Amino acid sequence: MSTPDISHISSDDFSHIYEPAEDSFLFLDAIENELPTLKTLRPQICLEIGAGSGIVSTFLAKEIGFPIFCICTDINPRAVSITKTTGLKNNVSLEPIRTDLVSGLAERLRKRADVLLFNPPYVVTPSQEVGSNGIEASWAGGEDGREVINRVLPLVPQLLSDTGIFYMVVIKENKPEEIGSILGTAGLTMTTVLSRRSGPEFLSVLKFTR
Ligand SMILES: C[S@@+](CC[C@H](N)C(=O)[O-])C[C@H]1O[C@@H](n2cnc3c(N)ncnc32)[C@H](O)[C@@H]1O
Repeated sequence: MSTPDISHISSDDFSHIYEPAEDSFLFLDAIENELPTLKTLRPQICLEIGAGSGIVSTFLAKEIGFPIFCICTDINPRAVSITKTTGLKNNVSLEPIRTDLVSGLAERLRKRADVLLFNPPYVVTPSQEVGSNGIEASWAGGEDGREVINRVLPLVPQLLSDTGIFYMVVIKENKPEEIGSILGTAGLTMTTVLSRRSGPEFLSVLKFTR
């Protein structure tokens, strides 16, 4: 398995969009672990919310071994154009869309996402920092780092296909068990694919299935 080539992204770009870091690489490792399951599922549509550089969807599209339609959203316009280039540079075609979470797409994608990916802005910050469309949107999560996550949770059961899987990166401060019980009431079961400490952060990749 190889990490996607992101050498086309300049340091100036990375002052405007999220530079892949420990959380992104934990996400890639989790997807790698999940590849046997994903290959059996034969997903046709992947939706990534907050694709940033596009590294995560590019990795999935490259490694899955068959064509998959990857829709990648981001609130940050520069991330959207870089995601397209990251795909092309790695010989995969991604469909990046600039929107807030899945605005304008949710109805069309109802019960169609076979794989839903989200590495959210999860850092605990003052609420006033949430809601930009620049680099701060990469990390600012507001109270409990949950303010953006909490907007996505109700969308998950609507978007996932019957056999769909939702993968999300969290830190301990996001209260993963509480997220598990919120989605549990919508009929989804949570497991943890991988966890890793990185400096002060205890990161996990959660997996939700029906
Ligand atoms: C932690 S970064 C993850 C980037 C990339 N997926 C990765 O793993 O390296 C979070 C991303 O979510 C995007 N984002 C934040 N709020 C958003 C929103 N309301 N709608 C869409 N994207 C959003 C940010 O712009 C950023 O690219």
